[in-house]
Amino acid sequence: QVELPELGRPVNFMAVQDNTVDSVVVPNGYDWSVTIAWGEPVEQGAPEFDIDNQSVEAQLKQFGYNCDFVAVLPLDRTFDRALLWVNHEYTNENLMFRDWVDVASATEDQLKIAMAAHGGSVVEIERVGDTGEWKPAKRKRYNRRIHTWTEFEIVGPAAGSDFLKTGDDPSGTTALGTLNNCAGGTTPWGTILTAEENFHQYFGASADISDPTTRERFGRYGIRTSAGTSRGWDRVEDRFDLAKEPNEVNRQGWIVEIDPYDPKSTPRKLTGLGRFKHEGATISIAEDGRAVAYMGDDERFDYVYKFVSKNTYREGTDRRSRQHNMTLLEEGDLYVAKFTGNSPEFPDSPPNDGLFDGTGEWLPLIEDGESKVDGMSVEEVLVFTRLAADQVGPTKMDRPEDVEANPATGTVYVALTNNSRRTPAEVDEANPRAENRFGHVIAIDEAGNDAAAKTFTWQIVIVCGDPEDPETYYDGYDKSQVSMISCPDNVAFDPSGRLWIGTDGMPGSTGVHDGMFVMPVEGDDRGHLRRFVSTPIGAECCGPAITADGRTALVAVQHPGEVSGATVDNPASTFPYGDFARPSVVTIWRKSPSGGPYIGD
Ligand code: FEO
Ligand code: CA
Ligand code: CA
Ligand code: CA
Repeated sequence: QVELPELGRPVNFMAVQDNTVDSVVVPNGYDWSVTIAWGEPVEQGAPEFDIDNQSVEAQLKQFGYNCDFVAVLPLDRTFDRALLWVNHEYTNENLMFRDWVDVASATEDQLKIAMAAHGGSVVEIERVGDTGEWKPAKRKRYNRRIHTWTEFEIVGPAAGSDFLKTGDDPSGTTALGTLNNCAGGTTPWGTILTAEENFHQYFGASADISDPTTRERFGRYGIRTSAGTSRGWDRVEDRFDLAKEPNEVNRQGWIVEIDPYDPKSTPRKLTGLGRFKHEGATISIAEDGRAVAYMGDDERFDYVYKFVSKNTYREGTDRRSRQHNMTLLEEGDLYVAKFTGNSPEFPDSPPNDGLFDGTGEWLPLIEDGESKVDGMSVEEVLVFTRLAADQVGPTKMDRPEDVEANPATGTVYVALTNNSRRTPAEVDEANPRAENRFGHVIAIDEAGNDAAAKTFTWQIVIVCGDPEDPETYYDGYDKSQVSMISCPDNVAFDPSGRLWIGTDGMPGSTGVHDGMFVMPVEGDDRGHLRRFVSTPIGAECCGPAITADGRTALVAVQHPGEVSGATVDNPASTFPYGDFARPSVVTIWRKSPSGGPYIGD
């Protein structure tokens, strides 16, 4: 059994300095290595990667592109073997193919290789010696690629709805592929949740969309209504042509549940959790045992949601309990968040209490199996969730990314990455900055610390940006001691309850590279945010994941070299192997475990 660090453990490493180095930079006393990079073999029989000999067949079995959410699930009691899950959010074709010019001149093979590089990967990994380093295992029993042709089951109250029926699937209960999988979560019953975010971009149209209701629905989701394409996939398959299959796009935009322990299992799209540009979904268990999923809709002025299951969680890892728990996310209530500030003098003058804080309500969209939105059926609320939420008056947020409860305290953290379009007239206490370039983080405390509560209190704990800027706030800590953070995206917690944050957008907003940061949330060190990782040129820092034993941090280096004008042969980044840029997952561990082996010590 693994000995875990105590709660509220202080952080002791020396912060990594802001930098623009084309590598992963970690603190003194730590080391890192590449666990797996784009193109490396995943499934049995996959060939070694060769950028000049790519094929659809090979990519279907190789590690996909742009790794985002990362999770590690144990395979044994000593935690020396585990399953790595990684999302493959999207592709940078100009950095994948030497002869890439544009979508219009792309070959069908190139488009299909990109389609094969989307989705996710399950990779068996093993510990290197007794360190915190992990590498892919020789065994590939569980290894699996999920991609654009993987079959999914559609479950929950909207399964079989007319809105989900297509020529290929008149039942509206199966779908091919999962697209733009951004963040996600792991469930207490050992499954993966992966979130379909900017799915709209994959759909083109061979003719304008004329039906006014369809136009309104597409418009709210940023889905094309005029003829044209952005990724060319509609040239390859009719299902991506909105003029031919207007409902196919309704089969994307869901939270997907995958059982990584069963490589033959059919992953399921969970309609009960609503359809929007899902950043992620993370699970808490309520006092009465119901499973609660916290979710963000990542668009400027969109909302924070939660789902509360109808049935309750069963403890235990036996087959029957697990089977039961895997049905929990199929049926339940759906809510959207309203944040009310307690300083009515704001924004005319600063809050008298010195804090951006207040109370909140979870406004029902679906409760007890019924729609709570006037004029909309349950199916309409679940398939066109944004339009339903618009009717009940939730708070328009600055791009909700990860929303996740700290397992040590129950406090729920909401990463709001930025919103350049908020005007001075549109600020409120929960989104207090106009042209919010740097983002902020809100902490939510549910009433009675019960995840199923219908009310909460909240406080902004980080107003991101240059600590010398008087507008910024680092949980009350002495700002001369903290690292600068901007554009918070993914959040994670280590076993001692420290908050870890990955960023996406620091180069554009601050001129330094993205990275991963850690901030204690209790004790004397509370608010002492420090940079732990810096990622290469052009990359955002995804994941992050801290393993359950607290000894390893995993980071996804997403889109290294994503810089205007960059190509395979004229790369902006050559991470990780010095030739061209390859999205990669790295593990980070302590080299010299004096004072404890745990990450962050
Ligand atoms: Fe794919 Fe919201 O970040
Ligand atoms: Ca206040
Ligand atoms: Ca993200
Ligand atoms: Ca992001």
